[in-house]
Parts: sequence; structure tokens; C-alpha cells
Amino acid sequence: MAGKISKIVVLTGAGISAESGIPTFRSSDGLWENEPVEAVATPEGFENDPKRVITFYNERRAAAQKCEPNAAHHALAKLEEKFGDNFLLITQNVDDLHQRAGNKRIIPMHGELLKVRCLGSEEHIISCTENQPEKCLECGAIMRPHIVWFGEVPFEMDRIQKALMQCDLFAYIGTSGVVYPAAGFRQIAKLSGARVVCLNLEEVGGGYTDEFIQGKASETVPKWVDFTIFNS
Ligand code: APR
Repeated sequence: MAGKISKIVVLTGAGISAESGIPTFRSSDGLWENEPVEAVATPEGFENDPKRVITFYNERRAAAQKCEPNAAHHALAKLEEKFGDNFLLITQNVDDLHQRAGNKRIIPMHGELLKVRCLGSEEHIISCTENQPEKCLECGAIMRPHIVWFGEVPFEMDRIQKALMQCDLFAYIGTSGVVYPAAGFRQIAKLSGARVVCLNLEEVGGGYTDEFIQGKASETVPKWVDFTIFNS
């Protein structure tokens, strides 16, 4: 590895939680094979049939809470412990496995399953570990899952952009790299001078990547983290 690393940004996708028992989106038995995306993951789907969407996320919330972080989540918590403020984890995942593993410097850019928000005020976000209420208990407005749906803008894009431009190592783990804007992060990091590493079960297309590490996240990520800490 050339030179010392000072700032690391890691992007994770559904593949890092797969071995914890949370299905990915685009595999043959993935979530989007069984549910039409437009019905459960778009603002229009929610407008057409809010009960269906709420039920879908209630089920996912219940299922995710039965799962535990795996060795890959724990390894990223170790990386944050080592790099502190020079580490940032961006996740497309809406489960809370990274948080439960101990990561604190984290941006859940696609929202969080364990939160819902009131449409009466976008500022009103509450934690929700069970079935979500359909209406806000305070103002009576409609409540929705705190999830970024297709067609909506992910959270904290300014902070993400800045971190990508300042890092010298960017790793993307367990993501198919087809959903923008996250799919474009490797390009921003690479063009800003970072070394870019991909860790995935299978090779995902797309340039701007210096190194590809193939395998299950629970095996590759702990090794990569140890290597990165050793070389820092
Ligand atoms: N270890 C490493 N990688 C894995 C593993 C594993 N054990 N299992 C699966 N993968 C890889 C798959 O090969 C695939 O490339 O993880 C990737 C998962 O891809 P997707 O299912 O497309 O998930 P993701 O990239 O996170 O999706 C992005 O799409 O639908 C939206 O909002 C949703 O955040 C999601 C976004």
C-alpha cells in the first residue's frame, strides 16, 4: 500500500448484512424479486396504498431486530476505533447492525428502519421498534417510514461529498453499485486522489477501482481491516 492513510471513507450495502440473515435486494431470492419496488419503495406507492407500505416495513423492522451484527460489522467498528474522526461510514443499509456493532461516525444515507417521521413536520422523527403508528400521536398527521425511497434525495449528501473528496482510502463493501448517487461515490473519491477498494462476493462492474477483494464480507472485511490498521 502506497503511503500512510490519514482519512478513510467506507460505503456499505446489503451484502454486508446478508450473512446476518437480512436478504439483499437484487439476488435471485432478493427483496425486489418478491416485492414490486414501485409499490413499496416510492412516494407514489405510499400515496396509493400506505397500509401495504407500512406493513412491508413493519415486517422488515421485526425481521432485522432478530439479526445480529456479523464479523464484518464488528471489523468496521474496530476500524473506527483506530481512526476516530478520520473515519466515516456511509451505509445504504437501513438496518441498525453497524450501530449495534459500535460504529458512531455513520451516515445512514437511505434512512433507518427503526425510525418513522411525521409528514406534518419533516423535523419530527421518532424511534420505532415495533409496528409503526399510521398517524402522529401528537398532531394527527400521517407517519411514514424514515426511509429514502426511489425518486427521493438521500440524506446528508453535502457531508458525504466533502468526505469523499478529502479521503485517501475509499472502500465499498457488499453493494452492487447500480443505485445512484452511492454508485458514483467511487468516481468522486478516485478523481479526488483516493485509493479505491471494492470488497464483494462477485465482481461488480464499473471502473475507478484500484483493487477488488473477492469473498464473503465476514471473511474479507476483518482481514482487510487488520491489513489497513497494520499499514496505517
Ligand atoms: N459478502 C459480500 N458481498 C455480498 C455478500 C456477502 N456475504 N452477499 C451478497 N453480496 C453482494 C452481492 O454480490 C451484491 O453485489 O452484495 C451486493 C448486494 O447488492 P444489492 O442487493 O443491489 O444491494 P445494495 O447495493 O445495497 O442496493 C443499493 O438499492 O434498492 C435499493 O435502497 C436500496 O440501499 C439499497 C440500494
